[in-house]
Amino acid sequence: MPLSESSLKRLREVVDPDRFSTGISNLSLHAKDESFHPAHLPDAVLWPRTTEEVSRIVKICNEEEIPVTPWGAGTSLEGNPIPVKGGIVLDLQQMNKILSIRENDLQVDVQAGVVFKDLNKKLQRYGLFFPPDPGASATIGGMVANNASGIRAIKYGATKDLIQRLTVVLADGSVIHPGTLAFKTSSGLDLCRLFAGSEGILGIVTEITLRLAGIPPEFLAAVVSFPTGEAASLTVSQIIRSGLSPAALEFIGTDSVRLINKYTETFNFPESPLIFIEFHGTSKEGLAADLELVRELCEDNGATRFEAGIGRQARAKLWEARYNLHDFILREHPGLEPMAIDTAVPISKLPDIVAFAEKITRNRGIIGYVFGHAGSGNIHMPMMGDPNDTKSWAVLEEINHQLVEYAISLGGTATGEHGVGIGKIQFMELEHGESLEVMRKIKKLLDPKGILNPGKMF
Ligand code: LAC
Ligand code: ZN
Repeated sequence: MPLSESSLKRLREVVDPDRFSTGISNLSLHAKDESFHPAHLPDAVLWPRTTEEVSRIVKICNEEEIPVTPWGAGTSLEGNPIPVKGGIVLDLQQMNKILSIRENDLQVDVQAGVVFKDLNKKLQRYGLFFPPDPGASATIGGMVANNASGIRAIKYGATKDLIQRLTVVLADGSVIHPGTLAFKTSSGLDLCRLFAGSEGILGIVTEITLRLAGIPPEFLAAVVSFPTGEAASLTVSQIIRSGLSPAALEFIGTDSVRLINKYTETFNFPESPLIFIEFHGTSKEGLAADLELVRELCEDNGATRFEAGIGRQARAKLWEARYNLHDFILREHPGLEPMAIDTAVPISKLPDIVAFAEKITRNRGIIGYVFGHAGSGNIHMPMMGDPNDTKSWAVLEEINHQLVEYAISLGGTATGEHGVGIGKIQFMELEHGESLEVMRKIKKLLDPKGILNPGKMF
């Protein structure tokens, strides 16, 4: 149902005129993220600048039962911020202030719309950084909502692990500040962890205190080629089991390697599966010793090429190529859309899920790119297709089911970092069983009228 004139009038009064829009171009810009899920226009977009404004807006929406969908940068991959029930989109991008950097505590307070890349640029001169890195130019609020993690989660944890305190606007407009600035606490229920990864369905996170890490003085990176994906992933699980602590450990399947070769000028890797590995530490000698152990494991598993001694610049280029892989895939298949796979499994099962994913793409003759944050057991496989071609899209859906169900049967999850959004709702029952009912009760308790990002997660 479109919003009434009186509702629009009440909402318009909260923000400056240039921070309220019902114009079609602004509505279109907030109708779809980077996923294949169909766009849906909101009725209005608002750009609040303060927690107080968010609180006033949400209070009105609660009174009038208007859906509210928070929006970060729109870079998610599962339809997470698509306003499927219309209503308003709260675009938090103008809440982009870094409020306080407390370098002695390794903490920073930010508004939700701060882009994590901008934050890390700012933190550089303090010798600090916020480690989770989803690749895309996400906002911290979006990263909290999805519990984003990316390549460095293996050493530093996901966003959820690095939240000290939040400011959250609840569905009735009240504001809470769960968490503590202390490094540890045993006090009460951990509400920060409840809101992190809740995709805006329980409350709207407007400010975040993050725990930071020191920029390590030394880095060491290597790129290793393997004859098969199974050999590469077996090596990854052995590296983790051996107690080594890489800061990144990525798997890149053969088709993805081809795209990196094609779309970058720097690289020309052998066309076979690769792992990228990086260590962070304080002494070159210590890192070199770790890398030597890795080399032995790789050779035991038939590695065909081991390239270490990658300098600072080459390393930056390597990660840039890795981050751009998703874009390369889209560029390679203009007109097609990606169905995302984001399963994560216990590390010992990594070879099983990689072999399964590779076999399925081969046997079914589909376009699927296997790669991922292998060191944390997280495998992506965007499958490219045309959602309007119902027959071939149904095949991708079927593979989505097979892979996710297999991952769950191995003790894993439907989504390691992209979130549930629209695409993974169908697996929630299977993955969570009776716990899903508890989640539903929490939702009902915090958002009795169901106004917050409706149509998602359950
Ligand atoms: C990546 C995104 C797709 O790892 O999660 O590139
Ligand atoms: Zn990823």
